Amino acid sequence: DPAVYEAVFEAALAADERIEPRDWMPDAYRASLVRQIAQHAHSEIIGMQPEANWITRAPSLRRKAILMAKVQDEAGHGLYLYSAAETLGVGREELLDKLHSGRQKYSSIFNYPTLTWADVGAIGWLVDGAAITNQVPLCRCSYGPYARAMIRICKEESFHQRQGYELLMALSQGTEAQHAMAQDAVDRWWWPSLMMFGPPDDESAHSAQSMAWKIKRHSNDELRQRFVDICVPQAESLGLTLPDPDLRWNPARGHYDFGPIDWDEFREVLRGNGPCNAQRLSQRRRAHEEGAWVREAAAVYAAKHGEARS
Ligand code: ACO
Repeated sequence: DPAVYEAVFEAALAADERIEPRDWMPDAYRASLVRQIAQHAHSEIIGMQPEANWITRAPSLRRKAILMAKVQDEAGHGLYLYSAAETLGVGREELLDKLHSGRQKYSSIFNYPTLTWADVGAIGWLVDGAAITNQVPLCRCSYGPYARAMIRICKEESFHQRQGYELLMALSQGTEAQHAMAQDAVDRWWWPSLMMFGPPDDESAHSAQSMAWKIKRHSNDELRQRFVDICVPQAESLGLTLPDPDLRWNPARGHYDFGPIDWDEFREVLRGNGPCNAQRLSQRRRAHEEGAWVREAAAVYAAKHGEARS
């Protein structure tokens, strides 16, 4: 009886229990998880590109080792997340095909260019900082495989955030030119980082339902505000300013007020018209095509290995 299944599902949510792959779940819950987890996985994979751009030009062996580790972590995050999506009954090939043909999204943030070395620091501090703020609550997501993947991902994101902060600190306290480079990177990455949290709550199509299903635990605007509140004192310690003349403490709200976000820019980036959308997708497609021989070799190996055992 479907009503009984539905009641068991609702009772598990109400008791804050995890929904596991073999449990019954509403089709729309499954579809929304696939949508969000796939978008998240694609973001990790596409997100390797802007920073990989600086690996060969890192200013020291130490910085290069850190950056390589970080970019590899992102590949790993993408793989855990594709695995989490696969537990919902979709195939990795299908998801990649949707990414490559533009039918599934990835985060707006990765469509901006990394113009200087300081961008590596700004991405770590702001982009990974925003990612942690958004993802720590996902460790308590109602879907078990997604929640568990998030625990390890958040630990690694925390290292990413700290390396960015430390990099920016070194530049900020360096020569005048280095300080100016750090400030310029923060000026360019601040507003796009705020857009990562998604549209304002009254325009967020999925929030209400995702919160009822305990996929999301906080709204887009709540997490954006939390991020602003965390960043203001950190910017002060860095000796850098955030590019928002309206940013000020509001004692009545107990939060920092901030200026208006350019949602037209956000919508344009989502439509494919950001500064790097075309480049990111074409590079991803090329990497996939060039990796075809690896997938074929792995499949042949797996088949032979299976034969030898049987
Ligand atoms: N970039 C691209 N698309 C976005 C963004 C963004 N920053 N924010 C929202 N969207 C899309 C949504 O995917 C949705 O589109 P869809 O219906 O085609 O799927 C649409 O805009 C409306 O947004 P919401 O209704 O608010 O969507 P949702 O409830 O899924 O909230 C959010 C968006 C907050 C990004 C959520 O999906 C989430 O928490 N995802 C997991 C985290 C994640 O993906 N992070 C990726 C960047 S972090 C990193 O990779 C380092």
